[in-house]
Amino acid sequence: MIDKKLEEAFNDQINKELYSAYLYLAMKVHFQELNLQGFVNWFDVQVQEEKAHAIGMFNYLDERGGKIDLRAIDKPEVKGSTILEIFEQVLEHEEYVTSRINHLADVAEEVKDRAALHLLDWYIKEQVEEEANVGGLLSTLRFIGDDKKALLVLDKDLAARVFNPPVIG
Ligand code: FEO
Repeated sequence: MIDKKLEEAFNDQINKELYSAYLYLAMKVHFQELNLQGFVNWFDVQVQEEKAHAIGMFNYLDERGGKIDLRAIDKPEVKGSTILEIFEQVLEHEEYVTSRINHLADVAEEVKDRAALHLLDWYIKEQVEEEANVGGLLSTLRFIGDDKKALLVLDKDLAARVFNPPVIG
């Protein structure tokens, strides 16, 4: 059985992962309006990854005999209006998620749940990748500035991104 405090932290994080999917879906709308299909694809993949992150924790909690408690997902708020501002928010959001995953690992450590810590190692590594990926994209966007031709080249590159279902744990 899983410790109640850890169970609560997992349920909270499942909600945050689903919120992440919801936020990226909301951001995708902006790029649909601009007809930047590569960016649309990038957000599609992002949404699928976030859902996979949530399901990974959902399945884990179930496997450990925990009680799954699905909660209301907040309305997503896209703060920026430019492409750069939107990606700044993506990075800010991923940094927030990293802090929550670290909190989850702190709770697992506190209740001495080694199995959960093993699973969370995967999520910690995934967050390093997420932040690096978005950080790199942000640097490219800053470099591009107002160059629309370069933006269209980047859009083509982003069209090639594919979702690879992660093997979590
Ligand atoms: Fe599930 Fe983007 O972190």
